[in-house]
Amino acid sequence: MSNCGCQCHDKNATVRTILMDEHRVIERVLDAVERMLDENVIDREFTLGAVDFIRNFADGCHHAKEEDHLFPALESVGVPREGGPVGCMLHEHELGRSLVGLMTSSLDAAVAGRPEAVDAFRRAAADYVLLLRHHIQKEDNILFVMAERALDCQRKKELIAGFERSENATPGKHEKYLALADRLANWQFRAAPVCG
Ligand SMILES: [Fe+2]
Ligand SMILES: [Fe+2]
Repeated sequence: MSNCGCQCHDKNATVRTILMDEHRVIERVLDAVERMLDENVIDREFTLGAVDFIRNFADGCHHAKEEDHLFPALESVGVPREGGPVGCMLHEHELGRSLVGLMTSSLDAAVAGRPEAVDAFRRAAADYVLLLRHHIQKEDNILFVMAERALDCQRKKELIAGFERSENATPGKHEKYLALADRLANWQFRAAPVCG
């Protein structure tokens, strides 16, 4: 069995621990984005790295495990999508994607110092951090607990196998983005301070 650096290959891993482990990695990048905002800089290279991480790890690896595997499994045992926790989580994933879109569309003008772009960038980045922090708390403490109770052993095994298949589809991707999260968490911001 290959080991890509994610917990799917750990015999003791559960659906909840695999997804919560990824949340802790995502939070390291959220902390770094928040640190950039606190230091009142807009670092283009850091931001492009953070957007790459968000799109390919937070969305590409993690949200895909939830949307393609966990949420359908929950729906299959009666957890509703519309008006229920699954629909709420999906809506928040979409909100996150649109905020990341705003960050990228305003980035170059913000780096050039255009005040309206600086405001738009900073607001989108701060809103994204806040949204994801609350989203992660709801999943860790409510949705994943619900999943542990609602899904039987067989279904949990199938979910973990599905996670592993997703990871194996792109060998090395998980490790690459863990390394990027590490670089972003230790980033020394280089851009000149901006006054938004
Ligand atoms: Fe989620
Ligand atoms: Fe999540």
